[in-house]
Formats: sequence, structure tokens, C-alpha cells
Amino acid sequence: MALEQGETVGLVTCHVAGASCEIVTLDSLRPNLGIGAALIQAVKMVACAAGCRRLWLTTTNDNLDALRFYQKRGFELVAMHRGAVAAARKLKPEIPLTGDHGIPIRDEIELEMAL
Ligand SMILES: CC(C)(COP(=O)(O)OP(=O)(O)OC[C@H]1O[C@@H](n2cnc3c(N)ncnc32)[C@H](O)[C@@H]1OP(=O)(O)O)[C@@H](O)C(=O)NCCC(=O)NCCS
Repeated sequence: MALEQGETVGLVTCHVAGASCEIVTLDSLRPNLGIGAALIQAVKMVACAAGCRRLWLTTTNDNLDALRFYQKRGFELVAMHRGAVAAARKLKPEIPLTGDHGIPIRDEIELEMAL
């Protein structure tokens, strides 16, 4: 959790499984102040302390901000799960059809960083 004078301004959640740590969610409530980068640093420390060798996540194909953000911080694109969001939408119809920049949300893109 990122705090500023006691107020929550960001949150990262992760899941450690063996030698891999997945970033499950990353949210900054005040963009462009370094909160996202600080949360990445924090989760890297947690993952290293847990003995992980890989930090990974998925984001959706429309999330160009996240794709820029993660790649500039050392993550590499390793897989594209074509149609994964379309499949998830069958179970969760509330997932929107259109995302950032009016891009149809269809796929999950997997990124990773070696620790
Ligand atoms: C992706 C996300 C977490 C980034 O959080 P953020 O707090 O804006 O991240 P940062 O402030 O560390 O970095 C964002 C930009 O601000 C810039 N920045 C950071 N501190 C700055 C400062 N003091 N002055 C000016 N610019 C600054 C960084 O250079 C960075 O730009 P870059 O990515 O082109 O290098 C945020 O946009 C978000 O919550 N998105 C919605 C949820 C989401 O998509 N999560 C990720 C998918 S799992």
C-alpha cells in the first residue's frame, strides 16, 4: 500500500507461487508522481525476499499506458493470450467490451522480469 500522510494513494497485490510472483493488481490513485514505480520496487523486494526468480503479470490489450509503464521498468512481453478476455467475459459479462482509447478488449498480454 502506498500512503501519503496516512491517505492511501496506491495499492499493489501479488501472489507468490514457488519461484514466481504474480502482480495481481497495481493501482495508483495519483498518476505521474512515481507511486506506480515505488509500488513496483516494493513488490520486487517482497518477491526477492520470498525467493522468487520471476516477477510477472498480465494486462489487457487496450492498456497502452500499462504496457509502456511496465516495459520502461524492465518487464518484457513474453506471451499474448489471444481471446482470453473474451473467454472471461462469458463468465463475467460485466467486463466492458471497449477499453482505453476506444480499443476493443480481447486479449491478455503477459509480461515478466527476471529477478
Ligand atoms: C499504470 C499505473 C499503475 C502507473 O502508476 P503511476 O503512479 O502513474 O506511475 P508513475 O508515476 O511511477 O509513472 C508514470 C509516469 O509518471 C512519470 N513521473 C513519475 N514521477 C514524476 C514526477 N515527479 N514528475 C513528472 N513525471 C513523473 C514517470 O516518468 C512515468 O512515465 P513513463 O511511464 O513514461 O516513464 C497507473 O496508471 C494505474 O493505476 N493505472 C490503472 C490500473 C492499471 O492499469 N494497472 C496496471 C495493469 S495491471
